[in-house]
Amino acid sequence: MQDRGEILLHRLRGIVGDAGVLSDTAEMAAYGTDWRDMFHGRPLCVVCPATTGEVAQAVAACATLGEGIVPQGGNTGLAGGATPDDSGTQVIISLDRMNAIRRIDPIGMTVEVEAGAILQTVKDAVADKNRLLPISLAAEGSAQIGGLIATNAGGVDVLRYGMTRALVLGLEVVLPDGQILRHLRHLRKDNAGYDLKQLFIGSEGSLGIVTAAVLRLVPQVRHRATAMIAVPNISAAIRLYERAQTEMGEALSAFELISGAGLDLVAEHMGRSAPIQGADWCLLIEAGSSLSGLREACETLLETAFNEGWATDGVLAESEAQADALWALRESLTEAEAKAGGAIKHDISVPITAIDGFLRDAGDMLADIAPQARLNVFGHLGDGNLHYNVMNVTEGDAGRVNAGVHDVITRHSGSISAEHGLGQYRVSEWARLTDPVERALSRQLKDTLDVHGVMNPGKVVPIMREAHD
Ligand code: FAD
Ligand code: MLT
Ligand code: ZN
Repeated sequence: MQDRGEILLHRLRGIVGDAGVLSDTAEMAAYGTDWRDMFHGRPLCVVCPATTGEVAQAVAACATLGEGIVPQGGNTGLAGGATPDDSGTQVIISLDRMNAIRRIDPIGMTVEVEAGAILQTVKDAVADKNRLLPISLAAEGSAQIGGLIATNAGGVDVLRYGMTRALVLGLEVVLPDGQILRHLRHLRKDNAGYDLKQLFIGSEGSLGIVTAAVLRLVPQVRHRATAMIAVPNISAAIRLYERAQTEMGEALSAFELISGAGLDLVAEHMGRSAPIQGADWCLLIEAGSSLSGLREACETLLETAFNEGWATDGVLAESEAQADALWALRESLTEAEAKAGGAIKHDISVPITAIDGFLRDAGDMLADIAPQARLNVFGHLGDGNLHYNVMNVTEGDAGRVNAGVHDVITRHSGSISAEHGLGQYRVSEWARLTDPVERALSRQLKDTLDVHGVMNPGKVVPIMREAHD
């Protein structure tokens, strides 16, 4: 008699063809682990559907046999959400083949794309029509639209344009039982009933598989001013932020924090050296507009910052190439950190005025439990979101450091996952720190939409049914 795995493989091959199902260990290797090699799993197979109909049939086949499904996009996620468990029974559904850009509407300012389209490819396509898809992150050459939506990705332009959620107008989703929710509307205003698409944005593949989306575009930015500024401390950075908001208003798109230690990592491991040396903290600020005049605003801001003692050094990019070089430093931080041996990653957010207090308290906690730790702190200061990454910690101390940072963040009324999601990495911490009512409601939602518990099991909501206390 055939076992369930063999039956499922046979059915899946019947749906997408032999070439669309990978079951050879070597072929599946890249799908079974994340890019940092932190999370490892062993899938039954990797299915690569070419149409929404095929995704729906593949999901229905898995649901009928009660086998877990792990949706996977570009596999650049940082929380292990796209990695299966090691049971050898879960099916990865990869969206790689569903990458068409279906329609760009430069007047309505929308783009309709399939979920497997790569962010950079979509940005290039809409740029040809003088439009911008304002999601920017260092993984944009690999991250897919479906993955960005599933994680509600942030990035360096959130300050001005919001998280991915703010850009999604319509979605097509395959539900955990194989039904298709078709809601590919190109509408800016649509209050007809519950806004169901919101359920799937940021749900990390735990409630359904995004197969296509309609995204909002904005006019292409034609002028930008980019500056790197050394600041003496975080409170000076916050004052400078307030002034930047006043001087530049809605043109301000990025207000990023980088530590001197992070720039040292980038120099050592990526061979890129910063124009500012020796500072504890630097800011990378960018403003963009279709109108000119930003450079003058940025010069005024820098002048004020020096006069007020909020800046000790600074460079204003003189050309696009110089601006790109400043951004390359910022975008190399994650890779440099990985090359330096990795870190216990945290993706925290607090109200921006609480950042200083958070850093102080987290520093005290670390000095207590892991005094030898090194920090690589960087991130989206303007959003109150920092990557508080702790290096040089023994495996034995890792759990205590992780829990310690999350305890400090909870005391500051912050979030333990600002933009990367829970995946499998933060799911137990979420369960530990989340209010019971919120936990129970999440469980109820999951159980209602995913009756058989097959959609990305163990991600976002813990696998065990919790007592609804
Ligand atoms: P994957 O990694 O494949 O999957 C991520 C999650 O989404 C998983 O839970 C998966 O199951 C689910 N998923 C994927 N596709 C679908 C789908 N079609 N339908 C339903 N569920 C799906 N993130 C930020 O928010 N901000 C940053 O600044 C940022 N910078 C990064 C920089 C680097 C160098 C790297 C490597 C990553 C960075 N990330 C950042 C994290 C990552 O790029 C984002 O989370 C991205 O949105 C993941 O997209 P992906 O296609 O690679 O998804
Ligand atoms: C970033 O802001 O560069 C990312 O979220 C990546 C990371 O945290 O490493
Ligand atoms: Zn980030």
